[in-house]
Amino acid sequence: MYLTLSYQSVLTILLTCHYLTVKGENSCAARKQWLQSTAISQQIKNKGFHREVETTVEVQPGASREVRVLLLHTWPSGVYVDPYQLAFLSDAVDWQILVDSAIDLEMPAHKASGFVTYVYPAFSEQNPGMLKVRIPIHVRYHQPSFGGETFQSIAIEPPKLLLRTEECSQLDYSEPHTVTEAPCNADNTSMCLWIQVQHKQRPSDETLRLPVGDGSLVAPVCAATLAVTMICCLVLSKYMWKHRIV
Ligand SMILES: *[C@@H]1O[C@H](CO)[C@@H](O)[C@H](O)[C@H]1NC(C)=O
Repeated sequence: MYLTLSYQSVLTILLTCHYLTVKGENSCAARKQWLQSTAISQQIKNKGFHREVETTVEVQPGASREVRVLLLHTWPSGVYVDPYQLAFLSDAVDWQILVDSAIDLEMPAHKASGFVTYVYPAFSEQNPGMLKVRIPIHVRYHQPSFGGETFQSIAIEPPKLLLRTEECSQLDYSEPHTVTEAPCNADNTSMCLWIQVQHKQRPSDETLRLPVGDGSLVAPVCAATLAVTMICCLVLSKYMWKHRIV
């Protein structure tokens, strides 16, 4: 009796273990497909010095319940994000952002340096297969050009797409995907391993074109401004003298 019972319980335990392992492996294998089926695209909206960078990520709708997504943007020195604006936005949008360095809003492009942002979007109930993130960016003041160019181009790289799951830490990834360490969430309290998805066709950079001042005009513009100011002063003084205003 005693023997039978223990035999049964050992069998139960073994079976449960086996079942759990098989189940784990199966769902991890399923997740491997997610990597193949993700897609990312980037578009820049608006005109002028204040733009919005819209990133769209598509995943299998089934994946959205378990997968965490991180969009890693590397920004050039010609643009900045406004931390105050982002903090203000944070109540209205379903993504969180972490910026890797302090942002000086006034710094001109030639003195500023590039920076990195980590964006953590959340899937919505209505559209579980798709994420859309729109980050407002601003163009920095650019030095006037002395080479005769009237436009300056700033290339905006599409973000890197990183994925992880809580349940399947041994996510079976294969080439060309790589594993990298990044903050688990926007609080940056812990680091996690993420799979960086490499797409065969990486979306190309988007280019912002903006007008810049013509450096060769600096001297004539200054001289003309000074002359106009002096003439106005003289005319005004003469008028006041004539009418005995002082
Ligand atoms: C996250 O925190 C670590 C340790 O405090 C820090 O070294 C790192 O720069 C932070 N990362 C970002 C993106 O803020």
